[in-house]
Amino acid sequence: MAPHTEQLTRPAVRIRGLTRSFEGRTVLDGIDLDIPAGQFVALLGHSGSGKSTLLRAVAGLDHNVTGSGRLTAPERVSVVFQDSRLLPWRRVLDNVLLGTGGEEKGRAALAEVGLKGRERAWPGELSGGEAQRAALARSLVREPELLLADEPFGALDALTRIRMHALLRELWKAHQPSVLLVTHDVDEAIVLADRVLMLDQGRIGLDLTIDRPHPRSYRDPLLGEYRERLLAALGVTEDAS
Ligand SMILES: Nc1ncnc2c1ncn2[C@@H]1O[C@H](COP(=O)(O)OP(=O)(O)OP(=O)(O)O)[C@@H](O)[C@H]1O
Ligand SMILES: [Mg+2]
Repeated sequence: MAPHTEQLTRPAVRIRGLTRSFEGRTVLDGIDLDIPAGQFVALLGHSGSGKSTLLRAVAGLDHNVTGSGRLTAPERVSVVFQDSRLLPWRRVLDNVLLGTGGEEKGRAALAEVGLKGRERAWPGELSGGEAQRAALARSLVREPELLLADEPFGALDALTRIRMHALLRELWKAHQPSVLLVTHDVDEAIVLADRVLMLDQGRIGLDLTIDRPHPRSYRDPLLGEYRERLLAALGVTEDAS
């Protein structure tokens, strides 16, 4: 019994003393972080605070992290970026499948993100939002235990972004990966995530559990309180006038 219980409670991501410097300038300064399996986490912070650097380290894309840096992440990790990074010379379905085989899975993933019927389209024929949907489908097909996303909706218009929020939350519910979503948008963080981290001066300066039911409404006064706390931590004061 005990090992099973341990497995269930073991964090998906475990980071201890993660440090990263560029040319002598410390960007991540001894980060400690545990992300339990299945948790949806958003990472906020000023531009240049090191969000992408941390995400790249967790993704295993950065081999120059130092310090006592012990980092454990699951085997199946998918990463989604601000631009879809679809290969323009491959059709949508082939982009989704990239090396994984299993055409049926690819088709199912495209259907899940609302792109059924677009399997044979070229990436250049997709809108920005559709391309990001395809990128999500590509990440899903790998059945990730951990989904890392670096401002995946940053380049989308406001309406498309709201639709993508609902989609991401649905996909998370269906597949239950742990999620680390980098964003600079406080509203995006509080409407999507169950836990919001703030990166500040190389450390996790704030670690906030957002204990509200989904789907969330911006009109929820408690969300407003979280919003104000996060904006204050970012040094943004709202002008009431
Ligand atoms: N390869 C690199 N070489 C030198 N400096 C780097 C490199 N990558 C990141 N940095 C520096 O590390 C700091 C953190 O960068 P990072 O991209 O992680 O910030 P960020 O929080 O993701 O910012 P943004 O919100 O603008 O995307 C920045 O000052 C950046 O210039
Ligand atoms: Mg970044």
